[in-house]
Parts: sequence; structure tokens; C-alpha cells
Amino acid sequence: MLSLNDLRQFKQQGRKFSCLTCYDASMARIMEVAEVDTILIGDSLGMTIQGHDSTLPVTVDDMAYHTAAVRRANQHAFILTDLPFMSYATLNDALQNSKKVMQVGAQMVKLEGGAWLSEIVQVLTRNGIPVCVHLGLTPQSVHVFGGYKLQAKTREAADQLIADCKAVVEAGAAALLLECVPAQLGKEITELFPNTPVIGIGAGVDTDGQVLVVQDMLGLTMGRVAKFVRNFMKEQSGETAILDAIKAYHQAVQDQSFPSKEQTFQVEL
Ligand code: KIV
Repeated sequence: MLSLNDLRQFKQQGRKFSCLTCYDASMARIMEVAEVDTILIGDSLGMTIQGHDSTLPVTVDDMAYHTAAVRRANQHAFILTDLPFMSYATLNDALQNSKKVMQVGAQMVKLEGGAWLSEIVQVLTRNGIPVCVHLGLTPQSVHVFGGYKLQAKTREAADQLIADCKAVVEAGAAALLLECVPAQLGKEITELFPNTPVIGIGAGVDTDGQVLVVQDMLGLTMGRVAKFVRNFMKEQSGETAILDAIKAYHQAVQDQSFPSKEQTFQVEL
């Protein structure tokens, strides 16, 4: 089973790592065979599995249920699990809710926010819970942003996001996840923290890892998908098409053919 140390080593070696969301045992087993490096039990399951129009209704029990199912079927990937909306608003909630997902197989929890999470990050880390902080477009705050939009489009906003990253890394964050930010900022932040793996989704090709929602990269999402998504199913056919699409994604992350310019936000900062 891959560990946080493996992710740190990948970063030091310049070996890019793959991450996909996963919520069930069948897909987790396919990802094990495809040797996907990391799995995110994302609260995106509120939309992809439960049919809500945002991640807000998801509960900690939902996250624990799906984490347990994935862990049982996949003994290879490093697993991180989202703490859902309002489940880490107090230190005690953060501790109790992290405990629930760590006890069923998560190796790290992911929280959305910035510098204001520093105390929570510190306390969780001291209690043996590695934390990934998700910055940029943070879907739990969709009603604050007024939609799912590119973040940190100006130098000033980019510097604010860098300051948030510095604060949470200083507090002990073991990983960062950047969503929907200019590629230049993804590169700057990845280079700024030599010991902290940075995962990107719509953050350019230079982050240490890439993540996509599995339904998006398999072409199962009806309607509009984000610019940063590539449909890896399009290139496949036959009985093993899903496995082959996931293998192709893992390979494309490693050889950096994904994300290409088409799937990247190019903004000069
Ligand atoms: O919940 C999720 O799937 C996520 C990804 C979009 C990064 O947080």
C-alpha cells in the first residue's frame, strides 16, 4: 500500500502521480489493477452518486461508508477522504469526524479552505491525522463564489492563495490540492514546497499529482464538463475499455501528456 512517504519520494524524484475519485468496490478494484497511485473519496459523491446539485448535503457517515468500501477492494492506492461541508467547523468536530474516516481506511483527510484552517491542521496532525488542504475553487463554498469559476486570476489573488498555502503548510499540512487556478500558479506553489506533494485539478501540468472525478474522465457525466476534464474512454473499445481508460489516464499523468494546453487555464500573473 502506498504511503505519504511514497508521495513525498515521487515528488523528489519528479515522478508524477495519478489520483482519481472513487466511491465503490468495483471501481476500486479496477483502479488497483491499473495501479492508480492515490484515490480520493471525494464529497463529489453528493453529485455523482447521490444526485444532488452540490456537495453540501453529504454527511460524515456517507464518507465513512464509501471509504470502507473502497479500502476493502484496493490494497495498493494511498487513500484520502474528504471531510464534508460543516464537519470541521470546530476542533472537536474535526477530530471526531476525522477519526470516523481514518478508522475505516483513510490515510489522510482533505479539508477545504485556507490560512484560517491552521489551528485545525495543527491539532489533527498532532493527533496522527495527515491533512491535505484543498484551495482555489473549493466546492463547499460554491454559494460564496457564486458558481464554479477559475480562481486566483490576478497577481494579488495568486499571492493571497500562496500566503494561505504557506500558513497551512507551516501548521503541518502534509499535502495541498489546487483546483481551477492558472497553470503558472500551480507551478509556483508546487516549486515552493519541496516536501509537500501538490495535487492539481485544473491547475496545469506541473503539480506533483493530478486528480479527476472518475465519472468525468470516463465520459459518464451528462451535459457540460469542466475545461480541465479529458474523456479517456473515447480512445477505448472492447471488454476492458474502463480498465484501459484508467490505465491510459495513469500513463498520461506520468508522461505529462495530461493535462495538455486544452485542459489548462493559461493566465499571465
Ligand atoms: O470531491 C471531490 O471529488 C474533489 C475533487 C474535485 C478534487 O474534491
